[in-house]
Amino acid sequence: MENCMQKNIVVLVSGGGTNLQALIDSQERGELGCGRITCVISSKPDVYALERAAKHNIPARVIPRKAFSDAASYSAAMLEAFREEKADLIVQAGFMTILDASICRAYPNQMINVHPALIPSFCGKGFYGLHVHEAALAAGVKVTGATVHFVTEVCDGGPIILQKAVEIQQGDTPETLQRRVMEQAEWHILPEAVRLFCDGKLQVNGQVVSIQE
Ligand code: GAR
Repeated sequence: MENCMQKNIVVLVSGGGTNLQALIDSQERGELGCGRITCVISSKPDVYALERAAKHNIPARVIPRKAFSDAASYSAAMLEAFREEKADLIVQAGFMTILDASICRAYPNQMINVHPALIPSFCGKGFYGLHVHEAALAAGVKVTGATVHFVTEVCDGGPIILQKAVEIQQGDTPETLQRRVMEQAEWHILPEAVRLFCDGKLQVNGQVVSIQE
């Protein structure tokens, strides 16, 4: 981090946290620019992502989705946490809960998500985790990939920052495809998008993001 104001990154997780790990590894290699992961928030207790945070001395919180009766009360609790953490950027890295519009309004173009397909294919409500890869295989597409985008009120519909294509191989299962999409796409484009954001290189004009490198 040279000559720049630190940007506080809050990472939201719900599971294994391999994308969180990719972000931590990038940070440790000095590749997140002005960004610093200052807090991890999990929507579930006892997930491996929390152990990854602990191993790297990153403060973590659990705000369980199950403890809240609806998306509005859950989103209000999350919003309070983001403010307490002085978040500059919120990253949904394998976060399996949909937050409501109040958060999108409070953090416009300051929240990003990684999705395991080439949006606008295989996205929207119900398309998460392995379901996305099941749908791609069922449709018989030969190429899939991953997308990093800003989060708006439209599920998986916000401005696209980066995408990377991945070939589907004969005999792929949802699990083998998920792993290849992570290895070849997600773990690269998510940290790269975070660096671009934290270094002020992203300009958003309506639905279109341009990169000023
Ligand atoms: C990743 O493939 C991520 O793109 C996907 O869940 C997986 C989480 O893995 N996210 C979604 O489907 C969100 N709609 P991880 O916990 O190992 O990062």
